[in-house]
Amino acid sequence: MKRVALLGATGSVGRQAIAVIAANDELELVAATSGSTPIDGLAPLTQTGGDPTDLLERAAPDVVLNATVGFAGLPGTIWALEHGVPLALANKESLVAAGDLALDARRRGGTGPLIPVDSEHSALFQCALAGEPEALVLTASGGPFRGRSASELSDVTAADALEHPTWSMGAKITIDSATLANKGLEVIEAHYLFGLPYDRIEVVVQPTSVVHGLVRFRDGSAVAHVGYPDMQVPISYALTYPERAPTPVPPLDLTSLTIEFHEPDVDTFRMLALAREAGERGGTFPCAFNAANEVAVSAFLDGRIGFLDIAALVEDVLARVDGGPARDLLELREADAQARELMETVWA
Ligand SMILES: NC(=O)c1ccc[n+]([C@@H]2O[C@H](COP(=O)([O-])OP(=O)(O)OC[C@H]3O[C@@H](n4cnc5c(N)ncnc54)[C@H](OP(=O)(O)O)[C@@H]3O)[C@@H](O)[C@H]2O)c1
Repeated sequence: MKRVALLGATGSVGRQAIAVIAANDELELVAATSGSTPIDGLAPLTQTGGDPTDLLERAAPDVVLNATVGFAGLPGTIWALEHGVPLALANKESLVAAGDLALDARRRGGTGPLIPVDSEHSALFQCALAGEPEALVLTASGGPFRGRSASELSDVTAADALEHPTWSMGAKITIDSATLANKGLEVIEAHYLFGLPYDRIEVVVQPTSVVHGLVRFRDGSAVAHVGYPDMQVPISYALTYPERAPTPVPPLDLTSLTIEFHEPDVDTFRMLALAREAGERGGTFPCAFNAANEVAVSAFLDGRIGFLDIAALVEDVLARVDGGPARDLLELREADAQARELMETVWA
C-alpha cells in the first residue's frame, strides 16, 4: 500500500488523482490540501490554505503528488525533495522558479525519485529509460489560437482562450497553453528534470496531442511516447512508478490517426521565446518570468488586460529585474515578490 499526500486536491489534476487513487487498491489518500475550497473529510489529514509542511510531517506519506497551481506549490516540492520522499510533480511552477534550489534540496534529501506528472515530461521520462538523451522534443498542441496572427489576437477574450482544443485543465494552465507560456515553462522544467542545456530542448507543434514527447539518441534514433490526451495516464504512472496500473483510457486506434508536426510561431506567441531566454539567463530570471506571468494571467482572466498585453508586460518586467541568483528560499521569495510588484508598476 502506497500512502499518498495530494496537494491541490480540488483542482483539475487533483480531482483526476482522486479518481486514480480510488480505482487502485494499492494507493491510499492520507492527506490532502486546497487553496480555499473546504475539503474536510476528503482524507484523514486535510488543510486549506497555508504552508503544507506541518501536514506533510504528520502524514509521513510514501509519495507526495503536488498538484497545486503556481508558485504556491513551492513548499510542498521542497519538503518532498528535502526529505527524499518520492515526488510526483504536476506543479511545474515550483521547479521553474526554484530549479537550482530544488535540485540542491533533492541532493540533501538523497535524490528521492522525482517523477513528472506533466504529460510531456512523463513521456520524456519514460522515453529516457531507453538510453542517454541527446535531445528532448516537447510537443505542443498550439492552443486554441494556433495559426492566428497578432492582429487576430488583439481582442480575444478569456472565454475564447479557455476553449482548449485537446486538454481539459485548470484556468491558469489553459491560458498558459493559449499564449505558449506553458510550453516555455515546460522547456525550463525539462532543463531541470533532465539536466540538458536549452539548445538540446526542442518544441514542436502536434495539434492533436497524441504524441506527448520524444527523446533523440546519439545514434540518430528517437523514441516517442504516444497515447490519447488524458491526465489519468501520467498521474497513474507517477503514483505507481516503477510499476504500471490499468486506467480507463483506451488503447490508441492507430489507423484513425493523422499525425502532423509544425514549427511553433514564436513571433506571434512570444511567451515561449521569453521563457526560453529567461531559462538561458538563469539565476532568478525563470522565477521572475513565472511570477510576472502569474500576475498577467490573473489580470487577463479578470478582463483587466488584453491577450497580447501578457507577453508585453512580462517582457517589460524581465527587462527590469536583476535576475541575480537566489542563495536560499528567502531570497527566491524576494525575487518572486519583486517581479510581482514590478508587474503592477509597468502596468500602471
Ligand atoms: N490540469 C492539467 O491537465 C495539468 C496538466 C499538466 C500540468 N498541470 C499542472 O498542474 C498544476 C495544477 O493544475 P490544475 O490545472 O489542476 O490547476 P487548478 O485546477 O487551478 O487547481 C489548482 C489547485 O491548487 C490549489 N491552490 C490554488 N492556490 C493555492 C494556494 N495558494 N495554496 C495551496 N493550494 C492552492 C487549488 O485549491 P482551490 O480549489 O481551493 O483554489 C486547487 O486544488 C499546475 O502547476 C499545472 O501547470 C496541470
